[in-house]
Amino acid sequence: MHSLRWPLAALLSWALAWGLFALLAVVGVPAGLALAAGGFLGAALALLHAQRWRRLIVALGFPLSILMLGRVDATWAWLVPLGVLLLVYPLRSWSDAPLYPTPEGALEALPGVVPLAPGSEVLDAGCGVGHGLAELARAYPEARLRGIEWSGLLARIARLLLRLRGVDAAVLQGDMWLLDWSGFALVYIFQRPESMAQAWAKARLEMLPGTHLASLDFEIPGEMPVARIELSGHHEVLVYKLGDWRADAAQQGA
Ligand SMILES: C[S@@+](CC[C@H](N)C(=O)[O-])C[C@H]1O[C@@H](n2cnc3c(N)ncnc32)[C@H](O)[C@@H]1O
Repeated sequence: MHSLRWPLAALLSWALAWGLFALLAVVGVPAGLALAAGGFLGAALALLHAQRWRRLIVALGFPLSILMLGRVDATWAWLVPLGVLLLVYPLRSWSDAPLYPTPEGALEALPGVVPLAPGSEVLDAGCGVGHGLAELARAYPEARLRGIEWSGLLARIARLLLRLRGVDAAVLQGDMWLLDWSGFALVYIFQRPESMAQAWAKARLEMLPGTHLASLDFEIPGEMPVARIELSGHHEVLVYKLGDWRADAAQQGA
């Protein structure tokens, strides 16, 4: 189950919990017992995941959907949370990270490692509902902030929440892998371990020497960060500096 792509594993676990619940209900098992069996199966499947937040999502999906849809007497009722999930996460963004916001204060120490001139362009690649942008605004009040988010719904929510919080940031709806990163002095990314090699390859191709890529929690395989900012709650910010790899390659070839 854990080798399945996230969030397919969660959807399958919820479907299995609902399937067991429905099967038991159909064969006449009392509703309370059928509910307990579905919940127990969901919890057992949750234990197959290493990350605590994934365990929570898998384990809570069945009981929450029962609570939400308790009055709907239909075994297909789990399609409702699936529909909501598809709306929030269009299929194309499933290969990167689901929504998981940057914790408050996580980027406070970043200007100490990456000082930026006023007016510098900063990108949150995959900005979700704008928590990362709000933290970037606190860290760099004079920067020009941009966010890009694949989910149209999340991008709209981000614009609204940022406006309400008085954060000046432009949020685009689109694919961060198709956006040109060349104008950014700092790209902030909070995705998945599997996305990091692609992010680094893109940064090296497009970003200028001396600019930075900062990642919450996930390392770039085989690359040495210029700084690691340890945070509470097992989080850390890893900072990578773009070198002049074209000049380095030319020097090595000479
Ligand atoms: C872990 S959340 C981080 C949200 C935000 N950066 C923050 O730190 O608060 C990752 C976000 O990236 C978005 N995402 C995933 N793949 C994407 C892509 N290819 N282009 C744009 N956004 C993407 C997801 O929809 C999700 O909202």
